[in-house]
Amino acid sequence: MKTLLVVSGGDAPGINAVLYHYTQLAEAKGDQVVGVMGSFAGLLQGERARDLSRHDLESVRTLGGSYLTSSRAPVLRDENNRTQLVKTLIDQKIDNVVLLGGDGSLRHIPPILRELGIACISLPTTIDNDVPGTDQTIGFDTACNFAHHSIDAILATARALPGRVFSVETLGGNTGMLALDIAYAAGAHAVLVPEYSYDLPAMSKRIVDKCLPRAGYALLVFSEGIIHARTFNEDFQQLTGHKVRDTRLGHAQRAVAPSHQDRLLAKRMAQAAYEALRGEMRWGMVVSNGGHISIYQGDLQKLPPRLPDRQLYDQINEMNDE
Ligand code: F6P
Repeated sequence: MKTLLVVSGGDAPGINAVLYHYTQLAEAKGDQVVGVMGSFAGLLQGERARDLSRHDLESVRTLGGSYLTSSRAPVLRDENNRTQLVKTLIDQKIDNVVLLGGDGSLRHIPPILRELGIACISLPTTIDNDVPGTDQTIGFDTACNFAHHSIDAILATARALPGRVFSVETLGGNTGMLALDIAYAAGAHAVLVPEYSYDLPAMSKRIVDKCLPRAGYALLVFSEGIIHARTFNEDFQQLTGHKVRDTRLGHAQRAVAPSHQDRLLAKRMAQAAYEALRGEMRWGMVVSNGGHISIYQGDLQKLPPRLPDRQLYDQINEMNDE
């Protein structure tokens, strides 16, 4: 069996671990693994899939980023590219594909491959934790841990100089799963996510009137996708007269070494993908639900988008009002 590993969309901590573990398992059984630089776009531009070995991946398996470069170019929307892809895979004697990607990639690419008759098992790799069908994606835990390291440091200065307001902006695109989990675990006084509307004047007043006096500092966490993301500091200051000490976690949040949880998830999901293809399964996505790994074969497009827990959101934003 010759499998092509493809990384699509944003990188996530744990991708290299997946590449390594998949290759290691395949190698042990005498199967061949190849990888392409630049995702499907690379392949269509003439990039030849290169042999991967456990040895090649040994030095990167504990690192963030992706050994195989990725792409966000939606090249498979084009009919000619689809035809070219089938031809390329036949030419390079590739039997099947393992696709690593986030919500956008996994919703759109596997149905196209399926229609083309290309066997593909996909794995959810994104810090956003927004892929329907799985309660955890590879990279999410690491991104949360990265935020906690920053927040812990911020809280040290917050305690040393009381009376200040701090904000932390997380990645997450137009989703708030990441911001909400971080805010909850960090004990933030407020969280703002793109999925739910909020009353900025009321929230700002609560922060200044209630949270600041009670805690000695105020901590807000918001996702980069909220409407006020770019103007939050000025808006808050205008409403309350309080300056906001802001931290934008940015892309560093998705580039660090994978956490224990993500290494574990990467290894278990890689094994599930390998076993599925070995067992001649032709399509599906590896999912983790309640700690149980399985292959989801339903239509991802038909699943509703994953939403941040509304109860938690309300709890974080209102508990200090009691
Ligand atoms: O892959 C998901 C993600 O990390 C989002 O959290 C973020 O908004 C986006 O990618 C950033 O994309 P890019 O790296 O293309 O700027």
